[in-house]
Amino acid sequence: MNIDIFRRIGIVGSGRVARALALGLKPASHKPPLLWGRSPEQLAEAERQVDGIETTPNLGALVQTCDAIAIAVADDALSGIVATLAAEASKTPSSPFVFHVSGRSGAAPLAPLRDAGWLTAAIHPAMTFTGNPPGEVARMAGARFAITGSSVDAAVQARRVVGLLGGVAVEIPEERRALYHAALCHASNHLVTLIADAAQALERAGVAAPRALLAPLVQAALDNSLDRGFGALSGPLLRGDVQTIRDHVAALAAHDPDLVAAYRAMAVATIDRLEHEGARPDAALRRALDSSGAVP
Ligand SMILES: NC(=O)c1ccc[n+]([C@@H]2O[C@H](COP(=O)([O-])OP(=O)(O)OC[C@H]3O[C@@H](n4cnc5c(N)ncnc54)[C@H](OP(=O)(O)O)[C@@H]3O)[C@@H](O)[C@H]2O)c1
Repeated sequence: MNIDIFRRIGIVGSGRVARALALGLKPASHKPPLLWGRSPEQLAEAERQVDGIETTPNLGALVQTCDAIAIAVADDALSGIVATLAAEASKTPSSPFVFHVSGRSGAAPLAPLRDAGWLTAAIHPAMTFTGNPPGEVARMAGARFAITGSSVDAAVQARRVVGLLGGVAVEIPEERRALYHAALCHASNHLVTLIADAAQALERAGVAAPRALLAPLVQAALDNSLDRGFGALSGPLLRGDVQTIRDHVAALAAHDPDLVAAYRAMAVATIDRLEHEGARPDAALRRALDSSGAVP
């Protein structure tokens, strides 16, 4: 047996991340990966979607046979699963490596398993999973994974798993996990809201295919900002075009009032960052955002 592979990898959960992990870690599992899920229908669907895995409705069987266990359930279900695994831990002499894949917390939620002698860690892929395991396995290769181990040995195991998926491990301390996760949500989730809001305003301006209009502009802005950071900024706030900002707020208040608060918040954040970077934006810009186009 290749020493870099696990005897058997177990996966708790049968959803999107669970299936992608099962496929991605299959070559690293001497026996076929074993999936546990609470729904027989979802387990059957996972077996149909991912070749060469096995499933079980019995969490105890997974604990007894696996030396590495990934927990990929809904965030709010994590503590219940950990309690069940801890009860199983007391029935078996083995001490597997166990990790969860949630972004918001580190190894702390796995403390009952650490106390049972297991190595515990959080391994969060900074990637989006929508139900296409082959595509997601390909994307995990080269992606960053935030790891937080409960010990040096646990962090070593976490790096090993990330390496087996072809990813790059980035260590995040336990107390910074919520900050790390907030940053990812701000960049990726809020971006979706931003585009949906902008597309709605364009529709109200009479544009029939707003996303097609936005695509080249937004993709260029994204590429530039990933490449050059805040140096990629362009537009009226950078130029100091106060009347343009007044017109924007007034037009939004008249035609898309739900968007005014978000527009103001992002414009103020942009001015704050300009100042932070050493620029001296015209004070009239803040006044334009404060006063003009006020929603009654
Ligand atoms: N999707 C992403 O882009 C992404 C990215 C990085 C990390 N993650 C993390 O990956 C984890 C799983 O997310 P996902 O996107 O794979 O979610 P998902 O597709 O909705 O799957 C969630 C799984 O959790 C199970 N589950 C929910 N409540 C449960 C409970 N009370 N007891 C036992 N099982 C329960 C579900 O079972 P049923 O099918 O029976 O409901 C399902 O198997 C989360 O921690 C998430 O933060 C997700």
